[in-house]
Amino acid sequence: MDWKITDEVFETMAGAVRLTINGFNVEAPQDQSLLVTIRQQGIDIPTLCHHSDLPSEGHCRLCVVEIGEYPKTRIVNSCTYPTEGGLVVQTHSEPVLQARRMVLELLLARCPHAKLIQEMAAEHGVYESRFKTDDPDELCILCGLCVRACRDIVGVSAISMKGRTPDKQVTTPFSEKSSACIGCGSCAFICPTDVIPYTEKDGIRTVWGRDFELQPCLKCGNYIAPKAQLEHWAKITGDPVESFFTCRDCR
Ligand code: SF4
Ligand code: FES
Repeated sequence: MDWKITDEVFETMAGAVRLTINGFNVEAPQDQSLLVTIRQQGIDIPTLCHHSDLPSEGHCRLCVVEIGEYPKTRIVNSCTYPTEGGLVVQTHSEPVLQARRMVLELLLARCPHAKLIQEMAAEHGVYESRFKTDDPDELCILCGLCVRACRDIVGVSAISMKGRTPDKQVTTPFSEKSSACIGCGSCAFICPTDVIPYTEKDGIRTVWGRDFELQPCLKCGNYIAPKAQLEHWAKITGDPVESFFTCRDCR
């Protein structure tokens, strides 16, 4: 098979390496997440805990691929595995599909009524689980996206993962109202199963059991964000909090 670019061009691509994906030779930046490299080839890989704006932590194990050559192959999480020169990757081999079906069976047992899981499982031919369901109402798949968004994007770490499986859960410190929370709602927006309770009524946003007063725009009156969030922005930027009291449309 031919490389897609000439050797000359390849040499000018700083940090580029060559690897094989599903029998095709490809070039990609060294150390970039293998998942990103695979997707750049237009190959579909299911994921539940990956987000392009967040560091990967490999929670769901749905993105698994097989690396190496028979008989020395192994299954790895592609989101946390680096792109390396000479790597031989199979994205849809039988061991890979089996591993994904197993993950989906486990998730189906944990969250039997989570629509997203039901749909993904069905796409992989999984309609029921051999594993025991502890709480049929559970909807949290423990992907950790909410925790990472709060920590790495918002920068407040108001929630974290507590306990061990099967009692593991996302919660605020001591499961009480978190003083660190600014009510931004990022956790609820990013949650793939919509399990984080979040409401807005009469100028009050409620999330993680805490009420946050929303700041109306001084010009149009539409709500912008919780006052606590604007104070957080003011602290980070060093700008006066009043400078955030006009919404984007009215600026
Ligand atoms: S609450 Fe939502 S985002 Fe957070 S770990 Fe559970 S499923 Fe993932
Ligand atoms: S996307 Fe890789 S482990 Fe979840």
